[in-house]
Amino acid sequence: MQVAKRARGRFVTVEGVDGAGKSTQLQWIAGWLRQHGVDFVQTREPGGTPLGEQLRALVLSHPMDIETEALLMFAGRREHIVQVIEPALARGLWVLCDRFTDASYAYQGGGRGLPVQRLATLEHWVQGEPGHMLQPDLTLLFDVPLGISQARMAASRDQLDRFEREAESFHARVRDAYLARAAADPARIQVIDAARPIEAIQQELDTRLGVWLRDHAAC
Ligand code: TYD
Repeated sequence: MQVAKRARGRFVTVEGVDGAGKSTQLQWIAGWLRQHGVDFVQTREPGGTPLGEQLRALVLSHPMDIETEALLMFAGRREHIVQVIEPALARGLWVLCDRFTDASYAYQGGGRGLPVQRLATLEHWVQGEPGHMLQPDLTLLFDVPLGISQARMAASRDQLDRFEREAESFHARVRDAYLARAAADPARIQVIDAARPIEAIQQELDTRLGVWLRDHAAC
C-alpha cells in the first residue's frame, strides 16, 4: 500500500522587543494551533537543542565581543535547524519558534550596530543560499512603544538578562530594526500592535491566523 506523502510543514516565528508580551502571546498561539488541529513543534532561540540551550545560558549572561555574540547566535541556529527545525518541517510538522534570525538583525544589527552584510553572510552560511534559504513562512512581530515595553519588563521580571539590562537607546534601535525589516518584507512579517489589552490582541491573532491557515495550510 502506498502511503500518501505528507506536505512540508510551515515555519512560524514570533518576535518582538523585550517586554512586548511575546511569551504570553506565544502560549496563546500554541493553543490556537492545537485547537485548529495543527501538529507542531514549539521551540525557541537562542536554544532549542541541548547545545543551543548551553549557548543561550552563555550569551544571556556572559559579557562578550559583539561579533562573538553574533557567531554564537548563528552557531546555535545551525544546530537548531539541523537537529530540530528541518526534520520537523520535512515530516510535515509545523514549527512554532520563539525568535529566529530577525532577532539577530534587530539585536546584533540594530542594537549592537553590527553591519547588516555580516549578518547576511552568516544567514546564508547557516540557512542556505538565496533561492534555497530556510526562512520563516510567517513571522508575527509584537510591537510596542518603548515606554510600555520598559515598564512591562520592570514589572514582570525578577532578574534581567544581559539584553534586558541594555539602555533604552539600545531597545529603541532594536525596535526600529524590527519595524524596518517588517516594512521591507510585509508578505512574511505581520506587525501586531501589542500595546493594546491582551484580549484585543488575541482577537486580532485569531483573525489573522485563521486567514493565514486558510491560505497557507499544507494540503
Ligand atoms: P527572549 O525570547 O527575550 O527570552 P525570555 O522571554 O526568556 O526573556 O530571548 C532572549 C534574548 O536573546 C532577547 O533579549 C533577544 C536575544 N537574541 C539576540 O540578541 N539575537 C538573536 O538572534 C536571538 C534569537 C535572541
